[in-house]
Amino acid sequence: MNKEPRGRLTKDGIRLYEPADFAGMHAAGALAAHILDAMSDHVFPGQTTGKIDEIITQMVEEAGATSATIGYKGYKHASCISVNHVVCHGIPSDKTLKDGDILNIDVTVIVDGWFGDTSRMYVAGRLPRKAERLIEVTHEALMRGIEVVKPGNTFGDIGHAIQSFVEGHRMSVVRDFCGHGLGRVFHAPPNVLHYGKPSAGAMLEPGMFFTIEPMVNLGRPETKTLADDWTAVTRDKSLSAQFEHSVGVTETGVEIFTLSRNGKFHPTY
Ligand code: MF3
Ligand code: CO
Ligand code: CO
Repeated sequence: MNKEPRGRLTKDGIRLYEPADFAGMHAAGALAAHILDAMSDHVFPGQTTGKIDEIITQMVEEAGATSATIGYKGYKHASCISVNHVVCHGIPSDKTLKDGDILNIDVTVIVDGWFGDTSRMYVAGRLPRKAERLIEVTHEALMRGIEVVKPGNTFGDIGHAIQSFVEGHRMSVVRDFCGHGLGRVFHAPPNVLHYGKPSAGAMLEPGMFFTIEPMVNLGRPETKTLADDWTAVTRDKSLSAQFEHSVGVTETGVEIFTLSRNGKFHPTY
């Protein structure tokens, strides 16, 4: 596999990939999206998050791809599964889902050296009203962030679009985690903040590949990380939701690499 760096770096250290590199990102993104599509049949009361991760591990293997998370900083699983007040980086376990639980499943795969990173919300059984509102606002926040991705706009414009929408619904944007550049690597500059001011930050340019992955809490934005050094939860125990797409900036706008071909990205229930 060719590990030579592609394209060139901006003054902010953000890699600009070539037009030909979009195909590789689409292939990786499509596999990650396909795996998440399949998970809607595996989320139900009584199911364990460990079993869901086992199915994901198997699907990655069968596709001849590689999990980006297994072995990443000592992480041992092919997915992060974050239930209810878990904000992100929930570790799959033998704990069973119960009726009304909401969960984010986050999968990152490597296909021919390209990284595809995406996550969505699911519900076990019946969706509680408050959770539904949270999930709707979080999904819409991601899409509003993506809508402003085009050359000439800035990363601050993305953060502002997300933050103003979320706070307008009296919910809060998590500050402790952000999106990231990706491509031939998992996490690269820039930090893609989900809050910010219009026109602030680096300018968007064709060939930038990054994730947008807002985490939204019903209560306060603060998080804490549990003793396992991974699981991040809301400090006030309020419910949290997240959606994530990997995207690329084109000459005129944006391409989403992790779209669901079956239109299952949202809703999954
Ligand atoms: N997929 C996560 C992200 O969106 C990162 C997970 S790293 C892991 O960036 F090690 F926790 F899996
Ligand atoms: Co990500
Ligand atoms: Co992710």
